[in-house]
Amino acid sequence: MDSPFDAAVFDAPGEPMRFAKLSVRQLRPDEVLVRLVATGICHTDLTVQSGAVPAPPPLVLGHEGSGVVERLGSGVTDLQPGDAVGMSFMSCGNCGSCHAHHPAGCDQFMALNFSGLRGDGTSALGEGAIVVGGHFFGQSSFARYSVANRRNVVKVGGDVPLELAGPFGCAFQTGAGAMFNTLRPRAGEACVVIGGGAVGLSAVMAAKVIGCAPIIVVEPRSARRDLALEIGATLTIDPRRQPMVAQVLAATGGGGAKAIVETTGISAVIDEAIDLLSNGGGIALIGLGEPTAMASFSVGKLLAKGATIRGVIEGDSDPQTFIPFLIDLFLKGQFPIDRLVRFYDFADINQAMADQASGVAIKPILRF
Ligand SMILES: NC(=O)c1ccc[n+]([C@@H]2O[C@H](COP(=O)([O-])OP(=O)(O)OC[C@H]3O[C@@H](n4cnc5c(N)ncnc54)[C@H](O)[C@@H]3O)[C@@H](O)[C@H]2O)c1
Ligand SMILES: [Zn+2]
Ligand SMILES: [Zn+2]
Repeated sequence: MDSPFDAAVFDAPGEPMRFAKLSVRQLRPDEVLVRLVATGICHTDLTVQSGAVPAPPPLVLGHEGSGVVERLGSGVTDLQPGDAVGMSFMSCGNCGSCHAHHPAGCDQFMALNFSGLRGDGTSALGEGAIVVGGHFFGQSSFARYSVANRRNVVKVGGDVPLELAGPFGCAFQTGAGAMFNTLRPRAGEACVVIGGGAVGLSAVMAAKVIGCAPIIVVEPRSARRDLALEIGATLTIDPRRQPMVAQVLAATGGGGAKAIVETTGISAVIDEAIDLLSNGGGIALIGLGEPTAMASFSVGKLLAKGATIRGVIEGDSDPQTFIPFLIDLFLKGQFPIDRLVRFYDFADINQAMADQASGVAIKPILRF
């Protein structure tokens, strides 16, 4: 990419995205230049914008991009210009987890995904002489072009609309992966999803594919509860009006749920979630509020139930295999993520981010 292109730059916590003309300084042998077709906005982008999770500006956010391969680094031999790709999180490729095909557990996860820079502290992007972080989650997709690494680029088949492919790289695989990869409930087992955003509703769709029953969604917004029922939930709870613990125990014959996916990050909700668990059950903690938030739980109850509480990154997914699996489910009509989506023009990024924050949009997708 030789001429400057439009990007939305994060300059300081609390400030809107600023449009700027950026250029690519260098494409390394293991990198891929992608022309963006669309990008999702994830709640984690908002968490960085608000300053709750630090990432150093100036920086291009965005980590659910999809597009077309424009140019290849000299060492990339298994892609072609013109290939349709989605992008996911970045991993190092050298640590024990990466070698074990578990890149979500990468030793370098935080540095490679939140610093906005390559592992060696450099960036491919610049605004004139100023270095701009261009590697947020290995992609910085709030721009017309992205310099990704071969490791976090996933080739997608021609059947899926490319403008829907980006959020498979974060929200969709995170929620679905918490069920398929982390908690692995069996058919007929009860599960609870707390929070009916894009992550929670992806977990609901996965639970339906597995055959879990009942599938209970806890969510204060009525429109999201209604949608949850349409895509697989069998019962919904409004936590402002109905006591979550009593409702879940009543719905499970007193036994509780085998799998609980927690997407709110609210300490008081996490405290209560232990009481929803069945013997041998597990809680996947996905939601991130303040990184310093604390939660408390009864050691005796957890021990007596032989239960597990796990922090989960990206649904324990290996994007190279899990995203094609989920896209295949989508094409069969079993993973209807198109129900969650609202499209915006790239120029309206600040409106789209505001709509994600206020809950107007479940999964905003910006089109370029
Ligand atoms: N761990 C990871 O790898 C990972 C990946 C992607 C996203 N995330 C995080 O996951 C979280 C969820 O993402 P999302 O895009 O679905 O966000 P979201 O804000 O759309 O969803 C959260 C939902 O929780 C609901 N909620 C609020 N209070 C509640 C309560 N007391 N009980 C039940 N529900 C309540 C909200 O109404 C909202 O619908 C975010 O914190 C995001 O940053 C983590
Ligand atoms: Zn995300
Ligand atoms: Zn690694």
